[in-house]
Order: sequence, then C-alpha cells, then structure tokens
Amino acid sequence: MKLYKKFFVNAKEPKGLLGKIMVNRMNIHHKELSTWGRENIPHFSPSTILEIGCGGGRNTKELLKKYPEAKVVAIDYSNISVDKTKKYNKKAINADRCTVLQQDVSKLDVEKNVFDLATAIETVYFWPRIEECFRNVYEALKDNGVFVIVNEADGLGEESSKMDGIIEGYRVYTAEELENLLKVAGFSDVKSTHHISSPWITVIATK
Ligand SMILES: C[S@@+](CC[C@H](N)C(=O)[O-])C[C@H]1O[C@@H](n2cnc3c(N)ncnc32)[C@H](O)[C@@H]1O
Repeated sequence: MKLYKKFFVNAKEPKGLLGKIMVNRMNIHHKELSTWGRENIPHFSPSTILEIGCGGGRNTKELLKKYPEAKVVAIDYSNISVDKTKKYNKKAINADRCTVLQQDVSKLDVEKNVFDLATAIETVYFWPRIEECFRNVYEALKDNGVFVIVNEADGLGEESSKMDGIIEGYRVYTAEELENLLKVAGFSDVKSTHHISSPWITVIATK
C-alpha cells in the first residue's frame, strides 16, 4: 500500500504511529470547520453532551468551554483517539466533567434518554450501517435533544470524491441524504446549513 494511502486510512480508524500523527493533524485541520459547526448549534444550555468520533479531542475541549455547566461523554472506537482525547482533556476529566470511552457508535452502549446534545464532526462518512448508528444516537438523546453533524464534504463537488478508493467503506452523503436518513431514524425536525463559500455542511436534527 502506498504511504499516502496508509496514512489516510487512519482518518477512519487511527492506529499505530501514523494514527498518532493523524489525530494531531485532525485537531489542527478541523479547527475552522468545527468552530463553524459549533456556531450553528441552536442557542440552548445542554447539561449532558455526547461527542461521537472524538479523534484528537479538540472538539470535546471546545464543547466543555462553550458549555461550562455541561458534562461531556466522548466516544471513539480507536484506542489512539481515546488516549489522545484523554490527554487533551485531562483537566476536565479530573474535574469530573468529561468521560472518554472506547466505543463503536454502531454498538453504542450508553444510557438511553440522557443526552441533551450529540455531535459528530467529520466522522459519519465512516459509520457502518448508518441508519442503525443514527437510531442509536436518537435513543441516547432526551426528548427535544439535538444531534449535530458537521462535514467538510457535501457530496456534490470534486472535493467529495478525493478519498474514493483510498478508504474502504467511506461514503460522502449530501445534506439531503443525511436529512432523509435522520428522519428514518425517528428525528422530527431536521435542517441543514451550507457554508457560504466552502462545501461544508451542518445537519441538525431534533428528537
Ligand atoms: C476524521 S476523524 C474526525 C475526528 C474529530 N471528530 C475531528 O473533527 O477532528 C474520524 C474519527 O471518527 C472515528 N470513528 C469512525 N467511525 C467510528 C465509529 N463507528 N464509532 C466510533 N468512532 C468512529 C475515528 O476513529 C476517528 O477518530
């Protein structure tokens, strides 16, 4: 396998040394995107947050900052991501505001009906059986809980096919496809926003 391919498969599941490099890169590369995504979250004060596919842990830290009263449970199926997120959020973990768990969202094992907000940044492309994953998120949320998906690729332009043939099981969805999948999972109010000049999308669904 070519080195660039070996490196980029770590976006799906960081492993080993290249995975460690990848999670650091995620924290830098997704900074602007995740800031934009958080700005799109409707104004409210969640007290319990589920951050899915936490990668390098930067979004977890920013959520803890944005919602100082909240507790965050961050999950990722990669042990490299879990370790990095734990290091990155050490203070919040020690203050009992943050928990990091190694879990696959397709087999999500958290309490049901407890989260006010769930976030998934640059991760749904990799989720297997996405309808089941969305249903798991739906069940974890309280009534009126909000699920926020942020993607840098909108499935419409060239940018969206750059990983084709590199990462197995990788799929870029359009905002419309995500909206429909979320409705099938049970979400009632589903809306999407496109960035003004980039192919970035935020899809927000309410339980
Ligand atoms: C491209 S990274 C994005 C990380 C972070 N959200 C960010 O924006 O920087 C994708 C992350 O999703 C995780 N991931 C992919 N599929 C997953 C699944 N089924 N369950 C849990 N985590 C998953 C990967 O391990 C990886 O850490």
